Amino acid sequence: MGRYVGAIDQGTTSTRFMIFDRAGREIGRHQLEHRQIQPRSGWVEHDPAEIWENTLKCIEGALAGAGLAPADLAAIGITNQRETAVLWDRASGTAVAPAIVWQDTRTDYLVSALDPDLIRDRTGLPPATYFSATKIQWLLEHTPGLRERAERGEVLFGTVDSWLIWNLTGGRHLTDVTNASRTMLMNLNDLDWDDELLRLFDIPRAMLPEIRSSAEVYGTAEAVLPGVPIAAAIGDQQAALFGQACFEPGEAKCTYGTGGFLLMNTGTKQVRSSHGLITTVGYRFGTQKPVFALEGSIAACGSAIQWLRDQLGVLDSAADSETLAGQVEDSAGVCFVPAFSGLFAPYWRPDARAAIVGLSRFHTAAHITRAALEAVCYQTRDVVEAMAQDSGTVLDCLQVDGGVTANALCMQLQADILGVPVSRPVVAETTALGAAYAAGLAVGFWTSLDDLRANRHEDRRWQPSWSAARRTEGITRWRAAIDRTLDWVS
Ligand code: G3P
Repeated sequence: MGRYVGAIDQGTTSTRFMIFDRAGREIGRHQLEHRQIQPRSGWVEHDPAEIWENTLKCIEGALAGAGLAPADLAAIGITNQRETAVLWDRASGTAVAPAIVWQDTRTDYLVSALDPDLIRDRTGLPPATYFSATKIQWLLEHTPGLRERAERGEVLFGTVDSWLIWNLTGGRHLTDVTNASRTMLMNLNDLDWDDELLRLFDIPRAMLPEIRSSAEVYGTAEAVLPGVPIAAAIGDQQAALFGQACFEPGEAKCTYGTGGFLLMNTGTKQVRSSHGLITTVGYRFGTQKPVFALEGSIAACGSAIQWLRDQLGVLDSAADSETLAGQVEDSAGVCFVPAFSGLFAPYWRPDARAAIVGLSRFHTAAHITRAALEAVCYQTRDVVEAMAQDSGTVLDCLQVDGGVTANALCMQLQADILGVPVSRPVVAETTALGAAYAAGLAVGFWTSLDDLRANRHEDRRWQPSWSAARRTEGITRWRAAIDRTLDWVS
Protein backbone atom coordinates (compact mmCIF):
# COMPACT_ATOMS: atom_id res chain seq x y z
CA MET A 1 0.00 0.00 0.00
CA GLY A 2 1.19 3.54 -0.82
CA ARG A 3 2.59 5.70 1.98
CA TYR A 4 0.23 8.62 1.40
CA VAL A 5 -3.36 9.52 0.58
CA GLY A 6 -4.38 12.17 -1.94
CA ALA A 7 -7.43 14.42 -2.10
CA ILE A 8 -8.96 16.39 -4.94
CA ASP A 9 -10.62 19.48 -3.46
CA GLN A 10 -12.69 21.00 -6.25
CA GLY A 11 -13.99 24.29 -4.78
CA THR A 12 -16.00 27.22 -6.10
CA THR A 13 -13.04 29.34 -7.13
CA SER A 14 -10.18 26.86 -7.37
CA THR A 15 -9.17 23.22 -7.57
CA ARG A 16 -6.38 21.69 -5.54
CA PHE A 17 -4.82 18.31 -5.08
CA MET A 18 -3.27 17.65 -1.70
CA ILE A 19 -1.21 14.75 -0.41
CA PHE A 20 -1.20 13.74 3.27
CA ASP A 21 0.79 11.31 5.37
CA ARG A 22 -0.52 9.09 8.14
CA ALA A 23 -0.23 11.88 10.74
CA GLY A 24 -2.45 14.10 8.55
CA ARG A 25 0.52 16.30 7.61
CA GLU A 26 0.62 17.92 4.21
CA ILE A 27 3.24 16.37 1.88
CA GLY A 28 2.40 18.22 -1.31
CA ARG A 29 -0.17 20.37 -3.07
CA HIS A 30 -0.93 22.08 -6.33
CA GLN A 31 -3.75 24.57 -6.83
CA LEU A 32 -5.31 26.33 -9.83
CA GLU A 33 -8.11 28.90 -10.06
CA HIS A 34 -10.79 28.66 -12.72
CA ARG A 35 -12.94 31.31 -14.38
CA GLN A 36 -16.07 32.67 -12.71
CA ILE A 37 -18.35 33.27 -15.67
CA GLN A 38 -21.09 35.83 -14.94
CA PRO A 39 -22.96 36.47 -18.18
CA ARG A 40 -25.80 38.34 -16.46
CA SER A 41 -26.60 39.72 -13.01
CA GLY A 42 -27.34 36.77 -10.72
CA TRP A 43 -25.87 34.15 -13.08
CA VAL A 44 -22.71 32.26 -12.13
CA GLU A 45 -21.28 29.55 -14.39
CA HIS A 46 -18.20 27.33 -14.58
CA ASP A 47 -16.70 25.52 -17.55
CA PRO A 48 -16.76 21.78 -16.67
CA ALA A 49 -13.92 21.06 -19.15
CA GLU A 50 -11.71 23.68 -17.45
CA ILE A 51 -12.45 22.12 -14.05
CA TRP A 52 -11.49 18.67 -15.34
CA GLU A 53 -8.30 19.93 -17.01
CA ASN A 54 -7.31 21.80 -13.84
CA THR A 55 -7.92 18.65 -11.81
CA LEU A 56 -5.50 16.71 -13.98
CA LYS A 57 -2.90 19.48 -13.80
CA CYS A 58 -3.24 19.71 -10.02
CA ILE A 59 -2.75 15.97 -9.55
CA GLU A 60 0.28 15.92 -11.84
CA GLY A 61 1.69 19.13 -10.32
CA ALA A 62 1.36 17.96 -6.71
CA LEU A 63 2.96 14.59 -7.42
CA ALA A 64 5.82 16.19 -9.36
CA GLY A 65 6.32 18.86 -6.65
CA ALA A 66 6.57 16.21 -3.94
CA GLY A 67 8.71 13.88 -6.09
CA LEU A 68 6.11 11.10 -5.87
CA ALA A 69 4.69 8.53 -8.28
CA PRO A 70 1.06 7.29 -8.45
CA ALA A 71 2.11 4.10 -6.65
CA ASP A 72 2.96 6.20 -3.56
CA LEU A 73 -0.76 6.86 -3.11
CA ALA A 74 -2.83 4.27 -1.24
CA ALA A 75 -6.02 5.95 -2.46
CA ILE A 76 -7.54 9.28 -3.35
CA GLY A 77 -10.69 10.98 -2.12
CA ILE A 78 -12.78 13.63 -3.85
CA THR A 79 -14.40 16.59 -2.18
CA ASN A 80 -16.22 19.30 -4.06
CA GLN A 81 -18.33 22.43 -4.23
CA ARG A 82 -21.82 21.05 -3.79
CA GLU A 83 -25.08 21.67 -5.68
CA THR A 84 -23.38 22.97 -8.86
CA ALA A 85 -25.05 21.18 -11.79
CA VAL A 86 -23.11 19.65 -14.69
CA LEU A 87 -24.87 18.04 -17.68
CA TRP A 88 -22.89 16.01 -20.18
CA ASP A 89 -23.30 13.77 -23.20
CA ARG A 90 -23.00 10.08 -22.32
CA ALA A 91 -21.41 9.10 -25.63
CA SER A 92 -18.82 11.85 -26.00
CA GLY A 93 -18.32 12.75 -22.33
CA THR A 94 -18.55 16.44 -23.30
CA ALA A 95 -20.52 18.93 -21.20
CA VAL A 96 -23.65 20.09 -23.03
CA ALA A 97 -23.79 23.48 -21.27
CA PRO A 98 -21.82 25.53 -18.76
CA ALA A 99 -22.22 24.26 -15.19
CA ILE A 100 -24.74 26.33 -13.22
CA VAL A 101 -23.05 27.18 -9.93
CA TRP A 102 -24.67 26.98 -6.50
CA GLN A 103 -24.60 30.79 -6.17
CA ASP A 104 -26.65 31.29 -9.35
CA THR A 105 -30.13 32.79 -8.78
CA ARG A 106 -31.60 32.56 -12.31
CA THR A 107 -34.16 29.96 -11.19
CA ASP A 108 -35.78 32.20 -8.59
CA TYR A 109 -39.06 32.17 -10.57
CA LEU A 110 -39.15 28.35 -10.44
CA VAL A 111 -38.41 28.21 -6.71
CA SER A 112 -41.13 30.65 -5.72
CA ALA A 113 -43.75 28.24 -7.12
CA LEU A 114 -42.65 25.32 -4.89
CA ASP A 115 -44.48 24.00 -1.84
CA PRO A 116 -42.02 24.57 1.05
CA ASP A 117 -43.57 21.91 3.29
CA LEU A 118 -43.32 19.17 0.67
CA ILE A 119 -39.72 20.02 -0.22
CA ARG A 120 -38.60 20.28 3.41
CA ASP A 121 -40.37 17.10 4.38
CA ARG A 122 -38.81 15.01 1.60
CA THR A 123 -35.34 16.52 1.39
CA GLY A 124 -34.60 18.38 4.66
CA LEU A 125 -34.01 21.51 2.55
CA PRO A 126 -35.95 24.73 2.14
CA PRO A 127 -36.83 25.43 -1.52
CA ALA A 128 -33.99 27.61 -2.86
CA THR A 129 -32.11 28.45 -6.02
CA TYR A 130 -29.05 27.14 -4.12
CA PHE A 131 -29.80 23.45 -4.78
CA SER A 132 -29.38 21.54 -8.05
CA ALA A 133 -32.98 20.61 -8.98
CA THR A 134 -34.14 23.87 -10.54
CA LYS A 135 -30.76 24.31 -12.27
CA ILE A 136 -31.28 20.97 -14.07
CA GLN A 137 -34.88 21.92 -14.80
CA TRP A 138 -33.75 25.26 -16.27
CA LEU A 139 -31.13 23.62 -18.50
CA LEU A 140 -33.65 21.07 -19.78
CA GLU A 141 -36.13 23.84 -20.54
CA HIS A 142 -33.71 26.26 -22.19
CA THR A 143 -31.49 23.98 -24.30
CA PRO A 144 -33.24 22.84 -27.51
CA GLY A 145 -33.61 19.07 -27.77
CA LEU A 146 -32.00 18.39 -24.39
CA ARG A 147 -35.06 17.00 -22.62
CA GLU A 148 -35.66 14.39 -25.32
CA ARG A 149 -32.00 13.35 -25.23
CA ALA A 150 -32.10 13.18 -21.42
CA GLU A 151 -35.22 10.98 -21.55
CA ARG A 152 -33.38 8.61 -23.88
CA GLY A 153 -30.53 8.42 -21.34
CA GLU A 154 -28.12 10.24 -23.66
CA VAL A 155 -27.53 13.20 -21.35
CA LEU A 156 -26.34 12.76 -17.77
CA PHE A 157 -26.46 14.98 -14.70
CA GLY A 158 -23.96 15.09 -11.91
CA THR A 159 -22.66 17.35 -9.20
CA VAL A 160 -18.93 17.99 -9.53
CA ASP A 161 -17.93 14.79 -7.65
CA SER A 162 -19.88 12.83 -10.23
CA TRP A 163 -18.32 14.72 -13.17
CA LEU A 164 -14.84 14.00 -11.82
CA ILE A 165 -15.55 10.31 -11.08
CA TRP A 166 -16.92 9.92 -14.63
CA ASN A 167 -13.76 11.39 -16.11
CA LEU A 168 -11.29 9.70 -13.76
CA THR A 169 -12.76 6.24 -14.22
CA GLY A 170 -13.57 6.59 -17.91
CA GLY A 171 -17.35 6.44 -17.56
CA ARG A 172 -18.79 5.42 -14.17
CA HIS A 173 -21.87 7.46 -13.35
CA LEU A 174 -21.98 7.68 -9.53
CA THR A 175 -22.40 10.20 -6.76
CA ASP A 176 -22.17 10.02 -3.00
CA VAL A 177 -25.04 10.47 -0.60
CA THR A 178 -23.82 13.82 0.82
CA ASN A 179 -23.78 15.36 -2.64
CA ALA A 180 -27.09 13.73 -3.57
CA SER A 181 -28.63 15.24 -0.42
CA ARG A 182 -27.99 18.72 -1.90
CA THR A 183 -29.86 18.23 -5.15
CA MET A 184 -33.38 18.71 -3.69
CA LEU A 185 -34.20 15.42 -5.44
CA MET A 186 -33.13 12.87 -2.83
CA ASN A 187 -35.51 11.58 -0.18
CA LEU A 188 -33.71 11.91 3.14
CA ASN A 189 -35.52 8.93 4.65
CA ASP A 190 -34.57 6.25 2.11
CA LEU A 191 -31.56 8.05 0.57
CA ASP A 192 -32.84 7.44 -2.95
CA TRP A 193 -34.12 9.72 -5.73
CA ASP A 194 -37.72 10.66 -4.95
CA ASP A 195 -40.09 9.84 -7.81
CA GLU A 196 -42.63 12.51 -6.86
CA LEU A 197 -39.93 15.19 -6.81
CA LEU A 198 -38.58 13.96 -10.15
CA ARG A 199 -42.10 14.37 -11.60
CA LEU A 200 -42.48 17.79 -9.99
CA PHE A 201 -39.23 19.09 -11.49
CA ASP A 202 -39.76 17.07 -14.68
CA ILE A 203 -36.34 15.45 -14.46
CA PRO A 204 -35.87 12.00 -16.07
CA ARG A 205 -34.46 9.40 -13.67
CA ALA A 206 -32.30 8.09 -16.53
CA MET A 207 -30.01 11.11 -16.26
CA LEU A 208 -29.26 10.72 -12.55
CA PRO A 209 -26.20 8.96 -11.10
CA GLU A 210 -26.32 5.97 -8.78
CA ILE A 211 -26.14 7.06 -5.13
CA ARG A 212 -23.29 5.43 -3.21
CA SER A 213 -21.81 5.86 0.26
CA SER A 214 -19.16 8.53 0.92
CA ALA A 215 -16.35 6.03 1.55
CA GLU A 216 -15.97 2.95 -0.63
CA VAL A 217 -13.95 2.11 -3.72
CA TYR A 218 -15.81 3.46 -6.76
CA GLY A 219 -13.11 2.42 -9.27
CA THR A 220 -9.56 3.40 -10.09
CA ALA A 221 -8.38 6.76 -11.36
CA GLU A 222 -7.17 5.32 -14.66
CA ALA A 223 -7.14 8.68 -16.45
CA VAL A 224 -4.23 9.98 -14.41
CA LEU A 225 -3.32 7.62 -11.54
CA PRO A 226 -3.42 4.08 -12.96
CA GLY A 227 -4.32 1.53 -10.32
CA VAL A 228 -5.03 4.09 -7.55
CA PRO A 229 -8.46 3.55 -5.99
CA ILE A 230 -10.93 6.42 -5.75
CA ALA A 231 -12.17 5.57 -2.29
CA ALA A 232 -14.21 8.59 -1.14
CA ALA A 233 -16.49 11.29 -2.45
CA ILE A 234 -17.96 13.76 0.00
CA GLY A 235 -19.33 17.30 -0.29
CA ASP A 236 -16.78 19.87 0.80
CA GLN A 237 -18.56 21.05 3.91
CA GLN A 238 -19.20 17.53 5.13
CA ALA A 239 -15.55 16.75 4.39
CA ALA A 240 -14.47 19.66 6.57
CA LEU A 241 -16.69 18.34 9.38
CA PHE A 242 -14.86 15.05 9.04
CA GLY A 243 -11.44 16.70 8.71
CA GLN A 244 -12.10 18.59 11.94
CA ALA A 245 -12.79 15.22 13.61
CA CYS A 246 -16.38 16.17 14.52
CA PHE A 247 -17.46 12.53 14.82
CA GLU A 248 -19.74 12.85 17.86
CA PRO A 249 -23.25 14.34 18.01
CA GLY A 250 -23.03 17.99 19.09
CA GLU A 251 -19.57 18.57 17.56
CA ALA A 252 -19.51 21.36 15.00
CA LYS A 253 -17.26 23.35 12.71
CA CYS A 254 -17.51 26.45 10.58
CA THR A 255 -15.70 26.68 7.23
CA TYR A 256 -15.17 30.12 5.72
CA GLY A 257 -14.63 29.78 1.97
CA THR A 258 -16.47 31.50 -0.87
CA GLY A 259 -19.51 31.02 1.33
CA GLY A 260 -19.62 30.06 4.99
CA PHE A 261 -20.91 26.77 6.32
CA LEU A 262 -21.54 25.77 9.92
CA LEU A 263 -22.28 22.06 10.34
CA MET A 264 -23.14 20.17 13.50
CA ASN A 265 -23.00 16.39 13.68
CA THR A 266 -26.38 15.06 14.90
CA GLY A 267 -25.42 11.38 14.80
CA THR A 268 -27.71 8.85 13.17
CA LYS A 269 -30.69 11.08 14.02
CA GLN A 270 -32.14 13.57 11.55
CA VAL A 271 -32.81 16.85 13.36
CA ARG A 272 -35.43 18.84 11.45
CA SER A 273 -35.00 22.57 11.73
CA SER A 274 -37.60 25.12 12.68
CA HIS A 275 -35.10 27.99 12.53
CA GLY A 276 -33.98 28.03 8.92
CA LEU A 277 -31.23 25.42 8.97
CA ILE A 278 -30.77 22.46 6.62
CA THR A 279 -30.93 18.79 7.54
CA THR A 280 -28.32 17.05 5.46
CA VAL A 281 -26.28 13.86 5.30
CA GLY A 282 -22.96 14.33 7.12
CA TYR A 283 -21.32 11.17 5.79
CA ARG A 284 -21.94 7.50 5.30
CA PHE A 285 -19.27 4.84 5.46
CA GLY A 286 -19.89 1.83 3.28
CA THR A 287 -22.92 -0.01 4.59
CA GLN A 288 -22.91 1.69 8.00
CA LYS A 289 -25.84 3.88 9.06
CA PRO A 290 -25.69 7.41 7.68
CA VAL A 291 -24.62 10.19 10.03
CA PHE A 292 -26.67 13.37 9.68
CA ALA A 293 -25.82 17.02 10.22
CA LEU A 294 -27.60 20.30 10.76
CA GLU A 295 -26.17 22.99 8.52
CA GLY A 296 -26.32 26.76 8.43
CA SER A 297 -25.26 27.84 4.93
CA ILE A 298 -24.12 31.41 4.30
CA ALA A 299 -23.99 32.42 0.64
CA ALA A 300 -21.23 35.05 0.79
CA CYS A 301 -18.19 35.14 3.06
CA GLY A 302 -14.86 35.13 1.21
CA SER A 303 -16.76 36.27 -1.90
CA ALA A 304 -17.58 39.57 -0.15
CA ILE A 305 -13.85 40.21 0.18
CA GLN A 306 -13.25 39.05 -3.41
CA TRP A 307 -15.91 41.52 -4.54
CA LEU A 308 -14.04 44.37 -2.83
CA ARG A 309 -10.89 43.20 -4.62
CA ASP A 310 -12.26 42.38 -8.07
CA GLN A 311 -15.26 44.61 -8.58
CA LEU A 312 -14.45 47.69 -6.48
CA GLY A 313 -10.67 47.42 -6.77
CA VAL A 314 -10.03 48.62 -3.19
CA LEU A 315 -7.81 45.63 -2.35
CA ASP A 316 -4.84 44.16 -4.21
CA SER A 317 -5.35 40.78 -2.58
CA ALA A 318 -7.81 39.19 -0.18
CA ALA A 319 -5.04 39.17 2.46
CA ASP A 320 -4.89 43.00 2.26
CA SER A 321 -8.36 43.14 3.81
CA GLU A 322 -6.79 42.53 7.21
CA THR A 323 -4.37 45.46 6.88
CA LEU A 324 -6.95 47.84 5.43
CA ALA A 325 -9.69 46.98 7.94
CA GLY A 326 -7.08 47.23 10.72
CA GLN A 327 -6.51 50.91 9.91
CA VAL A 328 -9.80 51.83 11.59
CA GLU A 329 -11.06 51.01 15.08
CA ASP A 330 -14.49 49.95 13.86
CA SER A 331 -16.77 50.34 10.86
CA ALA A 332 -18.11 53.63 12.28
CA GLY A 333 -21.73 52.61 11.87
CA VAL A 334 -21.44 51.05 8.39
CA CYS A 335 -23.12 47.69 7.79
CA PHE A 336 -22.50 45.57 4.71
CA VAL A 337 -24.99 42.79 3.94
CA PRO A 338 -23.32 40.78 1.13
CA ALA A 339 -26.50 39.19 -0.25
CA PHE A 340 -25.11 38.88 -3.79
CA SER A 341 -26.80 35.50 -4.22
CA GLY A 342 -29.71 36.27 -1.93
CA LEU A 343 -29.68 35.41 1.75
CA PHE A 344 -29.35 31.77 2.76
CA ALA A 345 -29.70 30.52 6.36
CA PRO A 346 -31.60 31.40 8.39
CA TYR A 347 -33.49 33.83 6.10
CA TRP A 348 -33.79 31.91 2.78
CA ARG A 349 -34.52 34.90 0.59
CA PRO A 350 -33.14 34.26 -2.91
CA ASP A 351 -34.58 37.62 -4.00
CA ALA A 352 -32.54 39.65 -1.48
CA ARG A 353 -29.64 41.66 -2.86
CA ALA A 354 -26.57 43.15 -1.19
CA ALA A 355 -26.57 46.51 0.57
CA ILE A 356 -24.08 48.79 2.30
CA VAL A 357 -25.93 51.03 4.74
CA GLY A 358 -24.99 53.84 7.10
CA LEU A 359 -22.54 55.65 4.81
CA SER A 360 -21.55 59.27 5.22
CA ARG A 361 -18.88 61.21 3.37
CA PHE A 362 -16.51 60.45 6.26
CA HIS A 363 -16.33 56.74 5.48
CA THR A 364 -13.49 55.16 3.55
CA ALA A 365 -12.67 51.85 1.93
CA ALA A 366 -11.22 50.81 5.29
CA HIS A 367 -14.63 51.13 7.00
CA ILE A 368 -16.37 49.22 4.20
CA THR A 369 -13.75 46.48 4.33
CA ARG A 370 -14.10 46.24 8.10
CA ALA A 371 -17.88 46.04 7.64
CA ALA A 372 -17.34 43.14 5.17
CA LEU A 373 -15.30 41.23 7.78
CA GLU A 374 -17.95 41.97 10.40
CA ALA A 375 -20.63 40.70 8.00
CA VAL A 376 -18.83 37.35 7.78
CA CYS A 377 -19.02 37.17 11.58
CA TYR A 378 -22.58 38.45 12.09
CA GLN A 379 -23.88 35.99 9.49
CA THR A 380 -22.09 33.22 11.36
CA ARG A 381 -23.63 34.43 14.60
CA ASP A 382 -27.09 34.22 13.00
CA VAL A 383 -26.58 30.54 12.18
CA VAL A 384 -24.98 29.75 15.56
CA GLU A 385 -28.11 31.12 17.24
CA ALA A 386 -30.40 29.12 14.94
CA MET A 387 -28.31 26.01 15.67
CA ALA A 388 -28.69 26.52 19.42
CA GLN A 389 -32.47 26.90 19.07
CA ASP A 390 -32.83 23.82 16.86
CA SER A 391 -30.44 21.47 18.62
CA GLY A 392 -30.45 22.78 22.18
CA THR A 393 -26.63 22.69 22.01
CA VAL A 394 -24.90 25.97 22.82
CA LEU A 395 -21.37 26.04 21.43
CA ASP A 396 -18.74 26.89 24.01
CA CYS A 397 -16.05 27.22 21.32
CA LEU A 398 -16.29 27.51 17.54
CA GLN A 399 -13.92 25.30 15.52
CA VAL A 400 -13.06 27.11 12.32
CA ASP A 401 -11.22 26.42 9.06
CA GLY A 402 -11.03 27.65 5.48
CA GLY A 403 -9.27 30.48 3.67
CA VAL A 404 -10.77 33.40 5.64
CA THR A 405 -9.35 32.01 8.91
CA ALA A 406 -5.92 33.26 7.77
CA ASN A 407 -7.36 36.72 8.54
CA ALA A 408 -6.61 37.09 12.26
CA LEU A 409 -8.62 40.31 12.56
CA CYS A 410 -11.68 38.57 11.15
CA MET A 411 -11.28 35.68 13.60
CA GLN A 412 -10.89 38.13 16.52
CA LEU A 413 -14.09 39.84 15.37
CA GLN A 414 -15.74 36.42 15.20
CA ALA A 415 -14.87 35.69 18.84
CA ASP A 416 -16.02 39.21 19.83
CA ILE A 417 -19.33 38.96 17.97
CA LEU A 418 -20.08 35.41 19.17
CA GLY A 419 -18.88 35.90 22.72
CA VAL A 420 -17.13 32.49 22.71
CA PRO A 421 -13.57 31.49 21.78
CA VAL A 422 -12.68 30.58 18.21
CA SER A 423 -10.19 27.75 17.58
CA ARG A 424 -8.25 27.07 14.37
CA PRO A 425 -6.47 23.73 13.79
CA VAL A 426 -2.88 23.40 12.57
CA VAL A 427 -4.06 21.91 9.27
CA ALA A 428 -6.40 24.63 8.00
CA GLU A 429 -7.11 22.57 4.83
CA THR A 430 -9.61 20.42 6.66
CA THR A 431 -11.79 19.97 3.58
CA ALA A 432 -9.09 18.14 1.64
CA LEU A 433 -7.96 16.39 4.82
CA GLY A 434 -11.51 15.12 5.47
CA ALA A 435 -11.72 13.61 1.97
CA ALA A 436 -8.30 12.01 2.46
CA TYR A 437 -9.42 10.62 5.83
CA ALA A 438 -12.57 9.13 4.31
CA ALA A 439 -10.60 7.51 1.45
CA GLY A 440 -7.88 6.29 3.83
CA LEU A 441 -10.44 4.68 6.13
CA ALA A 442 -12.11 2.95 3.18
CA VAL A 443 -8.88 1.23 2.13
CA GLY A 444 -7.53 0.55 5.64
CA PHE A 445 -4.78 3.22 5.52
CA TRP A 446 -6.26 4.51 8.78
CA THR A 447 -8.09 2.02 10.92
CA SER A 448 -10.09 4.02 13.45
CA LEU A 449 -11.60 7.42 14.12
CA ASP A 450 -9.29 7.65 17.14
CA ASP A 451 -6.28 7.73 14.76
CA LEU A 452 -7.85 10.77 13.10
CA ARG A 453 -8.81 12.50 16.34
CA ALA A 454 -5.22 12.20 17.51
CA ASN A 455 -4.14 14.14 14.41
CA ARG A 456 -6.09 17.28 15.35
CA HIS A 457 -3.98 19.98 16.99
CA GLU A 458 -4.97 23.55 17.76
CA ASP A 459 -2.92 26.22 16.06
CA ARG A 460 -4.50 29.37 17.49
CA ARG A 461 -7.37 30.44 19.73
CA TRP A 462 -9.04 33.86 19.81
CA GLN A 463 -10.79 34.98 23.01
CA PRO A 464 -13.77 37.36 23.00
CA SER A 465 -12.88 40.89 24.10
CA TRP A 466 -16.05 42.95 23.53
CA SER A 467 -18.34 43.92 26.39
CA ALA A 468 -21.86 42.48 26.31
CA ALA A 469 -23.21 46.00 25.63
CA ARG A 470 -20.99 46.47 22.58
CA ARG A 471 -22.00 43.06 21.24
CA THR A 472 -25.70 43.82 21.69
CA GLU A 473 -25.31 47.16 19.92
CA GLY A 474 -23.55 45.52 16.98
CA ILE A 475 -26.15 42.77 16.66
CA THR A 476 -29.00 45.29 16.79
CA ARG A 477 -27.41 47.32 13.99
CA TRP A 478 -26.78 44.16 11.92
CA ARG A 479 -30.41 43.06 12.23
CA ALA A 480 -31.58 46.53 11.19
CA ALA A 481 -29.35 46.31 8.10
CA ILE A 482 -30.81 42.89 7.23
CA ASP A 483 -34.31 44.40 7.52
CA ARG A 484 -33.33 47.23 5.14
CA THR A 485 -32.00 44.64 2.65
CA LEU A 486 -35.25 42.70 2.76
CA ASP A 487 -37.34 45.89 2.51
CA TRP A 488 -35.57 46.74 -0.70
CA VAL A 489 -36.90 43.69 -2.53
CA SER A 490 -40.33 43.36 -0.96
O1 G3P B 1 -22.57 24.55 -0.90
C1 G3P B 1 -21.55 25.25 -1.55
C2 G3P B 1 -20.23 24.84 -0.99
O2 G3P B 1 -20.05 23.47 -1.13
C3 G3P B 1 -19.12 25.66 -1.61
O3 G3P B 1 -18.00 25.61 -0.82
O4 G3P B 1 -15.74 26.17 -0.11
O5 G3P B 1 -16.34 26.41 -2.50
O6 G3P B 1 -17.27 27.98 -0.76
P1 G3P B 1 -16.77 26.61 -1.08
